[in-house]
Amino acid sequence: MSIDGGAPRLDIDRVRELFDLRGGSVAFSGGGFHDDPYPRWHELRETGPVHEGMVHELTGFDGPAYWHGLPEEGRRHFSCFSFDTCDEAQRTPEVFASSPETVEGREIDISQISVFNSMLAMDGPRHRRYRSLVQPSFVPPRAQWWITSWIDGTVHGLIDAFVADGRAELNIDFCAAIPLLTITSSFGIPVDQALEVRSQFSNPDRMIEILEPIVAARRAEPQDDLISVLVEAELADEDGTRHTLSDPEIYSFAILLLGAGSGTTWKQMGITLTALLREPALVERVRADRTLLRAAIEESLRWEATDPMFSRWVTTDTTLGGVDLPKGSVLHLCLGAANRDPARWERPDEYDIDRPAKPSQGFGSGPHICLGMHVARAELFTGISALLDRLPDLRLDPDAPAPEIIGLYERGATEIPVVFG
Ligand code: HEM
Repeated sequence: MSIDGGAPRLDIDRVRELFDLRGGSVAFSGGGFHDDPYPRWHELRETGPVHEGMVHELTGFDGPAYWHGLPEEGRRHFSCFSFDTCDEAQRTPEVFASSPETVEGREIDISQISVFNSMLAMDGPRHRRYRSLVQPSFVPPRAQWWITSWIDGTVHGLIDAFVADGRAELNIDFCAAIPLLTITSSFGIPVDQALEVRSQFSNPDRMIEILEPIVAARRAEPQDDLISVLVEAELADEDGTRHTLSDPEIYSFAILLLGAGSGTTWKQMGITLTALLREPALVERVRADRTLLRAAIEESLRWEATDPMFSRWVTTDTTLGGVDLPKGSVLHLCLGAANRDPARWERPDEYDIDRPAKPSQGFGSGPHICLGMHVARAELFTGISALLDRLPDLRLDPDAPAPEIIGLYERGATEIPVVFG
């Protein structure tokens, strides 16, 4: 990747390899699943909100499906499919914990650097302490900081690179790069290492090699970026003593944020563009009235949440949705099914930007609700709005296959070939 006249130029083949739901690094989470899972999820919900089994098994998919809470062999697995049960489990963290350690009364070992040792897996006061360290950088008033510092330049640089061609493949040329470059830049990672970071999440040693010199530089001289926030942040222990984060703590934070920040918004942006471009009249309405774009984004998060499942570990024998769940079992929250629960939304399978606004489960709920949701919204809005501003008569390429939404635990569009001008 190089910078050419301000436009980030990606090694397109490498991007295609890393951001293809059908192959490469995303295939392990059900990328081989090409059916529409929603009819099956409706059937399951109609016979009861909670079922024994894992979401992919219950959906009829027997390919590789590693994800949050999976495989967790040796435990009983349950999955819930209604809005109310998914919401209740997320809002009752004493019973539905975010890691197996909590069930076993052990503390997460943060010296082992991994996404599973980050705030995503923490519970109770420790989760609140870690989350509140970075929360101030992710609140709605900070959205403009993200837009001005990183999102705007990336979005326009990417459009500059294809605007003269009259055509683009938006999944690779646009959607994939925006969140990756936003989050890596906020960590001070140079553009030419961004793709390597994306490919090395499961290799903590390489991630540390990349992050170590940046952390050292920010300790010496902080800048106006997210890595400086982490380097300078003071964590209050339970007894009230305060200390700055250790290097392993910073690396675990970094791996979580770099992963969560680069792997989700890409797919949600492709889903939103697919939903809009399938209905040219809708594109024109949103082009003419940009306030509708906010509704289009929220509806996309409801209609087709890119990560339709997260999991919890049951800390005590309990009952949910009329089903007994023994201590130690894993509960999979099918947020995708919750988002199409007819008890909450009329005509739930329709993408309808005019429906009355109601929170969905696209970003989850409860104490672990997506930390980055306002950054994601800022990326989605800035990116799609810039396409509408700069590409007249933007439409799907009539001579290419239409985009399809595929995948099981990570859902997103295949190619999004468009023409314009
Ligand atoms: C459209 C894009 C996104 C979607 C659909 C999404 C979805 C989610 C969901 C459903 C959760 C809850 C997980 C759970 O309860 O176990 C979550 C958590 C999280 N997300 Fe996002 N996310 C998106 C973008 C982002 C971005 C851009 C960032 C960072 C810049 C981010 C950072 C996080 C973090 C740190 C957590 C863990 C929060 C905690 O455990 O307290 N996400 N996300």
